[in-house]
Amino acid sequence: MTTASDKGRVLLAISGYEPTAWLKAFAGRREATLAADGPGDPSIRYALTWRHQPDQLSGFPNLKAIFSVGAGVDHILADPTLPDVPIVRVIDPSLTQPMIEYIAWRVLDHHRQGLLYRIQKQKKIWHEPSQRPASDVSVGIMGLGALGTEAARILGALGYQLRGWSRRARKAPGVATFHGREGLDEFLAGTDILVVLLPLTAETAGLIDYALLRKLRRRNAIGGAVLINAGRGKLQKDADILRALDDGTLKEATLDVFEIEPLPKASPMWTHPKVFVTPHSAAGSDPDRLVPAMLEQMDALDRGETLENIVDRAAGY
Ligand code: GLV
Repeated sequence: MTTASDKGRVLLAISGYEPTAWLKAFAGRREATLAADGPGDPSIRYALTWRHQPDQLSGFPNLKAIFSVGAGVDHILADPTLPDVPIVRVIDPSLTQPMIEYIAWRVLDHHRQGLLYRIQKQKKIWHEPSQRPASDVSVGIMGLGALGTEAARILGALGYQLRGWSRRARKAPGVATFHGREGLDEFLAGTDILVVLLPLTAETAGLIDYALLRKLRRRNAIGGAVLINAGRGKLQKDADILRALDDGTLKEATLDVFEIEPLPKASPMWTHPKVFVTPHSAAGSDPDRLVPAMLEQMDALDRGETLENIVDRAAGY
């Protein structure tokens, strides 16, 4: 019988999340630790990370793979000392589902005039605004990976017209797809509600700027263009979004992510009437749901199997 220690130890290099819940989720399955016994610790076989410290993962001779606790891996690839082992992304229903709920909720709220009703209630105004159906509204999703394609499926079931943009050509059922820089303008020109679910890479950093927002369709069934970013804050330029909201380029925005997080108290985003702010909470990672899936992958790697969902380091996701 193999014991937990035969399988080596899992290093939990996690900041910004409460690490003890992750530690507990490993109990009795694999030995996990919050700190290695020095940089060359031979017992470290796997690492789990969220915003680890630079150097924290280097120098382990028996490290076989690095697992990301979140869907994005930019926090891992930002480490110049990262060892050359496979990086495994988490693609799991426990993370996809809350993200889809968030996207559906925000699309519906913007389309069904949530902001207007909140203002009307405050002023005790009984007024029925005109309302167009989902089939008149086009949602454009940037990023057609696991999250984007599932968001498209659910929004399609609600009746929205769907467009999708990705760096490389991809197909998704019921979605008019565009790709690359050459496909971007046409994608934006037919998009009323822009949903950003892109990975943060050298190519996507700062992509959501004023010039891009100008290209969205403003004469549309919802009376203006809307931005929803649930990807990464550094995909966007916060100042450009505020400018776009103030001059009518954008009607409203939902932002779960910001250039600087936590969002500084002095940021005008907090008080801007047209911005709906959530604190990078669209989809949290639940250790009790994710660790069992990671353990299965670790077992598969121990058996010498290759895994799907390995990060392409050159592409950055
Ligand atoms: C959260 O931001 C994630 O990458 O899962």
